Amino acid sequence: MSDNQKIPFLDLVGLHEEIEKELLPVFQNTLRTAGFIGGPMVEGFERDFARFSDAAHCLGVASGTDAVLFALLAAGVQPGDIVVTVPHTFIATTEAISQAGARPDFVDIDERTYCMDPAKLQEYLERECYFDRETGKTFHRTRKAPVTAVVPVHIYGQTADMDAILELAHRYKLIVVEDACQAHGAEYFSKKENRWRKAGSMGHAAAFSFYPGKNLGACGEAGAVTTDDEALAQKVRMLRDHGQSRKYYHEMEGYNGRLDAIQAGILQIKLRHLAEWNQKRRQIAARYNESLRGVSASLVLPFEPSWSRGVYHLYVVRTEERDQLQEHLTKAGIGTGIHYPVPVHLQKPYRAMGFQQGDFPVTEKAAAQILSLPMFPGLTLAQQNRVVEEIARIEKIIGSPLTAQPVVRA
Ligand SMILES: Cc1ncc(COP(=O)(O)O)c(C=O)c1O
Repeated sequence: MSDNQKIPFLDLVGLHEEIEKELLPVFQNTLRTAGFIGGPMVEGFERDFARFSDAAHCLGVASGTDAVLFALLAAGVQPGDIVVTVPHTFIATTEAISQAGARPDFVDIDERTYCMDPAKLQEYLERECYFDRETGKTFHRTRKAPVTAVVPVHIYGQTADMDAILELAHRYKLIVVEDACQAHGAEYFSKKENRWRKAGSMGHAAAFSFYPGKNLGACGEAGAVTTDDEALAQKVRMLRDHGQSRKYYHEMEGYNGRLDAIQAGILQIKLRHLAEWNQKRRQIAARYNESLRGVSASLVLPFEPSWSRGVYHLYVVRTEERDQLQEHLTKAGIGTGIHYPVPVHLQKPYRAMGFQQGDFPVTEKAAAQILSLPMFPGLTLAQQNRVVEEIARIEKIIGSPLTAQPVVRA
């Protein structure tokens, strides 16, 4: 098979070729000014990304992991607290919780959106926790620790059902930090507010990753915190910069967690293309939906509820024959991914916390069945057709049709 018949899971080279002329001056300007840390490019990007995300403040940081960590710390999470999230996420979400000195706890996801199931969060808070009026805090009954924050993860580019989560957080006095690392530009229709809201503008703070493969990716590591809260923003400014309020005057111990000027400059330019790239991703997803529906009635396609306008960071299908399907596509030269094969609660670092197989069945089932198909703005119609054709051929190859649940329609 020649290289041009291969279809990558993600093509970052092609994407950067298209805008190379726009990007090169960023490197030249940075070399000529030696303004590597901070300065106008960082401030410019922060201003533009805050506007893009409908947030009052954006603070550039070194990675999405730092963004979750700094958002939690700045919002007031203390050592010994419990922070609730989902097991269906990249481990960075729980790493950041642990790095803040807190203990991650989990609630399961919704089977169709793969995001936090608000009903499971409610069940967790009602059954396993109680609200103590004297302290104004929520406590876990058996773990005997305060539950102070919830981190919904907007997985695959689609937000969690935030009205319900925000309502529960309000009732139980929980901080909400959105993990928006995969959801730059995703929108949520809030019935409560009767308007569309952007990912990153709904919680007390939100974390974004600009890891190269993200919808908005740097040419290296980068991340950001967004928030409407000026005091929280000021804390993140200090945390990312060794706790200093001005040079060599330290209010606290912080981190070396700043955003490089070169990355900020690149991100500022790429941000101008993001709305168009996200639109292309939505078109590609719509085309996959249309053609895959015709191919296999048993392949579960992504579900976009009426309250969601996703940005398809990933296009994830689901089938019990996932491994055969992936193997077949690999042999056909088509790149795929599994996001993620092992739920976080079953990963080695969390074993000592007593989690077991069966604790979060929806996540566990998803982890065994999901497959991410090629998805990037430059994916051509011909490439997409070949992916669909190869999926159609699997039936003949494995000798039986794909046998997951019926297609869920939006
Ligand atoms: C859901 C989620 N949270 C957090 C992160 C961490 O971001 P980074 O890799 O920039 O540290 C990622 C990135 O992969 C992610 O997908």
